[in-house]
Amino acid sequence: MSATGNIGNFTTVDTAPDSRWFIDFMDIANGLPEYRAMKDELASVMGDLSGKTVLEVGCGTGDDAREVAGLVGAQGKVVATDLSTAMLDEARRRSAGSTLPVEFRVADLSGLDFLANSFDAARAKLVLMHCEDIETAIDELIRVVRPGGRIAVFDYDFDTTIVDHPDTEATRRAMRCFSDGHRNKWSGRQLFRRMRVRGLRDVTVTPLTVVMPFDFFRTLAAGRLRSAQESGQLELSPEQLEQWWRPLLRAADEGMFFASFTGFAVGATKP
Ligand SMILES: C[S@@+](CC[C@H](N)C(=O)[O-])C[C@H]1O[C@@H](n2cnc3c(N)ncnc32)[C@H](O)[C@@H]1O
Repeated sequence: MSATGNIGNFTTVDTAPDSRWFIDFMDIANGLPEYRAMKDELASVMGDLSGKTVLEVGCGTGDDAREVAGLVGAQGKVVATDLSTAMLDEARRRSAGSTLPVEFRVADLSGLDFLANSFDAARAKLVLMHCEDIETAIDELIRVVRPGGRIAVFDYDFDTTIVDHPDTEATRRAMRCFSDGHRNKWSGRQLFRRMRVRGLRDVTVTPLTVVMPFDFFRTLAAGRLRSAQESGQLELSPEQLEQWWRPLLRAADEGMFFASFTGFAVGATKP
Protein backbone atom coordinates (compact mmCIF):
# COMPACT_ATOMS: atom_id res chain seq x y z
CA MET A 1 0.00 0.00 0.00
CA SER A 2 1.03 3.63 -0.42
CA ALA A 3 3.07 5.03 2.47
CA THR A 4 1.66 8.51 1.98
CA GLY A 5 -1.51 8.67 4.11
CA ASN A 6 -1.27 10.99 7.10
CA ILE A 7 -2.05 9.13 10.31
CA GLY A 8 -3.08 12.40 11.97
CA ASN A 9 -6.12 12.59 9.66
CA PHE A 10 -8.17 9.81 11.23
CA THR A 11 -10.95 12.29 12.05
CA THR A 12 -11.34 13.22 8.40
CA VAL A 13 -11.17 9.89 6.63
CA ASP A 14 -14.03 10.74 4.24
CA THR A 15 -12.40 13.92 2.94
CA ALA A 16 -8.80 12.61 2.92
CA PRO A 17 -7.29 12.34 -0.59
CA ASP A 18 -7.14 8.54 -0.19
CA SER A 19 -9.72 7.26 2.29
CA ARG A 20 -8.83 3.67 1.28
CA TRP A 21 -5.39 4.19 2.85
CA PHE A 22 -6.98 4.34 6.32
CA ILE A 23 -8.86 1.08 5.73
CA ASP A 24 -5.74 -0.70 4.47
CA PHE A 25 -3.73 0.75 7.35
CA MET A 26 -6.15 -0.62 9.95
CA ASP A 27 -6.04 -4.04 8.27
CA ILE A 28 -2.24 -4.14 8.54
CA ALA A 29 -2.34 -2.95 12.16
CA ASN A 30 -5.08 -5.35 13.21
CA GLY A 31 -3.06 -8.22 11.69
CA LEU A 32 -0.12 -7.68 14.09
CA PRO A 33 0.08 -10.18 16.98
CA GLU A 34 0.06 -7.42 19.60
CA TYR A 35 -3.30 -6.19 18.27
CA ARG A 36 -4.69 -9.65 19.04
CA ALA A 37 -3.44 -9.17 22.61
CA MET A 38 -5.02 -5.68 22.65
CA LYS A 39 -8.44 -7.07 21.66
CA ASP A 40 -8.17 -9.87 24.23
CA GLU A 41 -7.25 -7.37 26.94
CA LEU A 42 -10.24 -5.16 26.10
CA ALA A 43 -12.52 -8.22 26.16
CA SER A 44 -11.17 -9.17 29.57
CA VAL A 45 -11.66 -5.59 30.82
CA MET A 46 -15.34 -5.70 29.79
CA GLY A 47 -15.96 -9.01 31.56
CA ASP A 48 -18.68 -11.46 30.61
CA LEU A 49 -20.64 -9.90 27.76
CA SER A 50 -23.07 -12.68 27.12
CA GLY A 51 -26.56 -11.24 26.47
CA LYS A 52 -25.30 -7.66 26.89
CA THR A 53 -25.83 -4.54 24.79
CA VAL A 54 -22.47 -3.05 23.82
CA LEU A 55 -21.58 0.22 22.12
CA GLU A 56 -18.46 0.11 19.92
CA VAL A 57 -17.38 3.65 18.98
CA GLY A 58 -15.02 4.48 16.11
CA CYS A 59 -15.58 0.94 14.83
CA GLY A 60 -13.65 1.46 11.58
CA THR A 61 -14.01 -1.57 9.31
CA GLY A 62 -16.18 -3.34 11.90
CA ASP A 63 -13.93 -6.37 12.40
CA ASP A 64 -13.78 -5.83 16.17
CA ALA A 65 -17.53 -5.15 16.34
CA ARG A 66 -18.22 -8.53 14.74
CA GLU A 67 -15.86 -10.15 17.23
CA VAL A 68 -17.65 -8.46 20.15
CA ALA A 69 -20.98 -9.53 18.61
CA GLY A 70 -19.72 -13.13 18.92
CA LEU A 71 -19.15 -12.48 22.64
CA VAL A 72 -22.61 -11.00 23.33
CA GLY A 73 -24.28 -13.92 21.53
CA ALA A 74 -27.78 -14.11 20.06
CA GLN A 75 -29.41 -12.59 23.16
CA GLY A 76 -27.13 -9.54 23.07
CA LYS A 77 -26.53 -6.68 20.67
CA VAL A 78 -23.63 -4.55 19.42
CA VAL A 79 -24.19 -1.05 18.09
CA ALA A 80 -21.08 -0.03 16.17
CA THR A 81 -20.60 3.62 15.25
CA ASP A 82 -18.11 5.68 13.29
CA LEU A 83 -17.75 9.21 11.99
CA SER A 84 -16.70 8.01 8.55
CA THR A 85 -19.17 6.73 5.97
CA ALA A 86 -16.26 5.17 4.01
CA MET A 87 -15.38 3.09 7.09
CA LEU A 88 -19.01 2.15 7.68
CA ASP A 89 -19.55 1.17 4.03
CA GLU A 90 -16.59 -1.18 4.39
CA ALA A 91 -17.88 -2.49 7.73
CA ARG A 92 -21.31 -3.22 6.21
CA ARG A 93 -19.73 -4.85 3.15
CA ARG A 94 -17.66 -7.14 5.39
CA SER A 95 -20.73 -8.00 7.47
CA ALA A 96 -23.01 -8.78 4.55
CA GLY A 97 -24.74 -12.12 5.02
CA SER A 98 -23.68 -12.39 8.67
CA THR A 99 -26.28 -13.25 11.30
CA LEU A 100 -24.25 -11.66 14.10
CA PRO A 101 -26.22 -9.15 16.21
CA VAL A 102 -24.39 -6.01 15.08
CA GLU A 103 -25.80 -2.79 13.69
CA PHE A 104 -23.64 -0.05 12.10
CA ARG A 105 -24.49 3.63 12.43
CA VAL A 106 -22.88 6.98 11.64
CA ALA A 107 -22.29 8.86 14.89
CA ASP A 108 -19.83 11.45 16.13
CA LEU A 109 -18.52 10.54 19.55
CA SER A 110 -18.67 14.19 20.54
CA GLY A 111 -22.51 14.04 20.48
CA LEU A 112 -24.08 10.58 20.53
CA ASP A 113 -27.81 10.39 19.87
CA PHE A 114 -28.34 7.59 22.38
CA LEU A 115 -30.25 7.93 25.62
CA ALA A 116 -28.29 8.04 28.86
CA ASN A 117 -27.67 4.64 30.51
CA SER A 118 -28.65 2.68 27.39
CA PHE A 119 -25.65 0.29 27.11
CA ASP A 120 -24.15 -2.35 29.42
CA ALA A 121 -20.66 -1.54 28.16
CA ALA A 122 -18.83 0.76 25.75
CA ARG A 123 -15.56 0.11 23.92
CA ALA A 124 -13.25 2.57 22.15
CA LYS A 125 -10.12 1.07 20.57
CA LEU A 126 -7.65 3.59 19.09
CA VAL A 127 -10.32 6.29 18.81
CA LEU A 128 -10.08 8.79 21.67
CA MET A 129 -6.48 9.59 20.71
CA HIS A 130 -7.83 10.98 17.40
CA CYS A 131 -10.94 12.84 18.65
CA GLU A 132 -11.18 16.60 18.17
CA ASP A 133 -12.63 16.99 21.64
CA ILE A 134 -11.46 14.11 23.83
CA GLU A 135 -13.07 15.44 27.04
CA THR A 136 -16.55 15.52 25.47
CA ALA A 137 -15.93 12.14 23.84
CA ILE A 138 -15.19 10.54 27.23
CA ASP A 139 -18.21 12.28 28.80
CA GLU A 140 -20.38 10.83 26.05
CA LEU A 141 -18.99 7.30 26.47
CA ILE A 142 -19.79 7.45 30.17
CA ARG A 143 -23.22 9.06 29.71
CA VAL A 144 -24.58 6.27 27.51
CA VAL A 145 -23.39 3.42 29.78
CA ARG A 146 -25.70 2.35 32.61
CA PRO A 147 -24.57 2.59 36.24
CA GLY A 148 -22.46 -0.49 36.97
CA GLY A 149 -21.61 -0.82 33.26
CA ARG A 150 -18.05 -1.13 31.94
CA ILE A 151 -15.99 1.19 29.78
CA ALA A 152 -12.99 -0.20 27.89
CA VAL A 153 -10.52 2.02 26.05
CA PHE A 154 -7.19 1.51 24.32
CA ASP A 155 -5.01 4.42 23.21
CA TYR A 156 -1.35 4.88 22.43
CA ASP A 157 0.96 7.37 23.97
CA PHE A 158 2.82 8.51 20.87
CA ASP A 159 5.80 9.90 22.77
CA THR A 160 6.71 6.26 23.46
CA THR A 161 7.54 5.71 19.79
CA ILE A 162 11.16 4.58 19.48
CA VAL A 163 13.27 3.38 16.58
CA ASP A 164 16.85 2.09 16.53
CA HIS A 165 18.74 4.56 14.30
CA PRO A 166 22.39 5.75 14.24
CA ASP A 167 21.43 9.47 14.21
CA THR A 168 20.04 10.25 17.66
CA GLU A 169 19.24 13.93 17.08
CA ALA A 170 17.48 13.53 13.72
CA THR A 171 15.54 10.59 15.15
CA ARG A 172 14.44 12.63 18.18
CA ARG A 173 13.22 15.36 15.85
CA ALA A 174 11.42 12.92 13.59
CA MET A 175 9.74 11.01 16.43
CA ARG A 176 8.70 14.18 18.22
CA CYS A 177 7.18 15.46 15.02
CA PHE A 178 5.45 12.13 14.38
CA SER A 179 3.96 12.25 17.87
CA ASP A 180 2.89 15.89 17.51
CA GLY A 181 0.88 14.91 14.42
CA HIS A 182 -1.75 13.27 16.63
CA ARG A 183 -4.53 15.31 18.21
CA ASN A 184 -4.21 13.58 21.57
CA LYS A 185 -0.67 12.27 21.46
CA TRP A 186 -0.52 11.75 25.25
CA SER A 187 -3.92 10.13 25.56
CA GLY A 188 -2.36 6.85 26.74
CA ARG A 189 -0.81 8.37 29.85
CA GLN A 190 -3.82 10.59 30.52
CA LEU A 191 -6.61 7.99 30.45
CA PHE A 192 -6.20 6.92 34.10
CA ARG A 193 -6.63 10.51 35.33
CA ARG A 194 -9.46 11.22 32.89
CA MET A 195 -11.42 8.22 34.23
CA ARG A 196 -10.63 8.95 37.88
CA VAL A 197 -11.62 12.65 37.78
CA ARG A 198 -15.00 11.58 36.41
CA GLY A 199 -15.52 9.40 39.49
CA LEU A 200 -15.30 6.06 37.68
CA ARG A 201 -14.60 3.00 39.84
CA ASP A 202 -12.23 0.04 39.49
CA VAL A 203 -10.00 1.85 37.01
CA THR A 204 -7.31 -0.50 35.70
CA VAL A 205 -4.46 0.26 33.30
CA THR A 206 -2.54 -2.39 31.35
CA PRO A 207 0.37 -1.27 29.16
CA LEU A 208 0.99 -3.03 25.87
CA THR A 209 4.05 -2.48 23.68
CA VAL A 210 3.76 -3.12 19.97
CA VAL A 211 6.97 -4.10 18.16
CA MET A 212 6.62 -2.69 14.67
CA PRO A 213 7.78 -4.51 11.54
CA PHE A 214 9.49 -2.08 9.13
CA ASP A 215 6.62 -1.97 6.61
CA PHE A 216 4.18 -1.06 9.36
CA PHE A 217 6.50 1.60 10.78
CA ARG A 218 6.99 3.12 7.33
CA THR A 219 3.26 3.10 6.61
CA LEU A 220 2.57 4.67 10.00
CA ALA A 221 5.21 7.39 9.90
CA ALA A 222 6.17 8.25 6.31
CA GLY A 223 3.09 10.27 5.31
CA ARG A 224 3.06 12.27 8.52
CA LEU A 225 6.81 13.02 8.34
CA ARG A 226 6.59 14.04 4.72
CA SER A 227 3.66 16.41 5.25
CA ALA A 228 5.33 17.83 8.38
CA GLN A 229 8.49 18.39 6.39
CA GLU A 230 6.53 20.18 3.66
CA SER A 231 4.72 22.42 6.15
CA GLY A 232 7.91 23.31 8.03
CA GLN A 233 7.01 21.46 11.25
CA LEU A 234 9.90 19.03 10.87
CA GLU A 235 13.35 20.58 11.11
CA LEU A 236 14.86 18.38 8.43
CA SER A 237 15.32 19.28 4.77
CA PRO A 238 13.78 16.96 2.15
CA GLU A 239 17.29 15.55 1.56
CA GLN A 240 17.90 15.03 5.28
CA LEU A 241 14.55 13.27 5.63
CA GLU A 242 15.37 10.99 2.73
CA GLN A 243 18.77 10.29 4.28
CA TRP A 244 17.13 9.56 7.63
CA TRP A 245 15.16 6.69 6.06
CA ARG A 246 18.26 5.06 4.51
CA PRO A 247 19.73 3.30 7.60
CA LEU A 248 16.23 2.06 8.43
CA LEU A 249 15.78 0.56 4.97
CA ARG A 250 19.21 -1.05 5.30
CA ALA A 251 18.38 -2.38 8.78
CA ALA A 252 15.14 -3.84 7.41
CA ASP A 253 17.04 -5.58 4.59
CA GLU A 254 19.50 -7.02 7.10
CA GLY A 255 16.83 -8.12 9.57
CA MET A 256 18.09 -5.53 12.12
CA PHE A 257 15.17 -3.07 12.17
CA PHE A 258 13.60 -2.37 15.56
CA ALA A 259 10.83 0.08 16.48
CA SER A 260 8.03 0.05 19.03
CA PHE A 261 5.33 2.12 20.68
CA THR A 262 3.29 1.59 23.81
CA GLY A 263 -0.41 1.97 24.47
CA PHE A 264 -2.66 1.41 27.46
CA ALA A 265 -5.82 -0.64 27.89
CA VAL A 266 -7.99 1.05 30.48
CA GLY A 267 -11.07 -0.41 32.10
CA ALA A 268 -13.51 1.40 34.39
CA THR A 269 -16.95 1.01 35.94
CA LYS A 270 -19.62 3.73 35.93
CA PRO A 271 -20.80 4.28 39.51
C1 LIG B 1 -7.53 4.26 14.23
S1 LIG B 1 -9.13 3.94 13.66
C2 LIG B 1 -9.63 2.61 14.73
C3 LIG B 1 -10.73 1.78 14.15
C4 LIG B 1 -11.15 0.57 15.00
N1 LIG B 1 -11.54 0.95 16.33
C5 LIG B 1 -10.04 -0.46 15.07
O1 LIG B 1 -9.38 -0.55 16.09
O2 LIG B 1 -9.85 -1.18 14.07
C6 LIG B 1 -10.05 5.33 14.33
C7 LIG B 1 -11.51 5.33 13.91
O3 LIG B 1 -12.18 6.33 14.67
C8 LIG B 1 -13.06 7.04 13.83
N2 LIG B 1 -13.30 8.36 14.44
C9 LIG B 1 -12.45 9.39 14.55
N3 LIG B 1 -13.03 10.41 15.22
C10 LIG B 1 -14.28 10.00 15.55
C11 LIG B 1 -15.39 10.59 16.25
N4 LIG B 1 -15.31 11.84 16.73
N5 LIG B 1 -16.51 9.88 16.38
C12 LIG B 1 -16.59 8.62 15.89
N6 LIG B 1 -15.60 8.00 15.23
C13 LIG B 1 -14.46 8.68 15.06
C14 LIG B 1 -12.35 7.07 12.49
O4 LIG B 1 -13.22 7.31 11.41
C15 LIG B 1 -11.72 5.67 12.45
O5 LIG B 1 -12.58 4.74 11.87
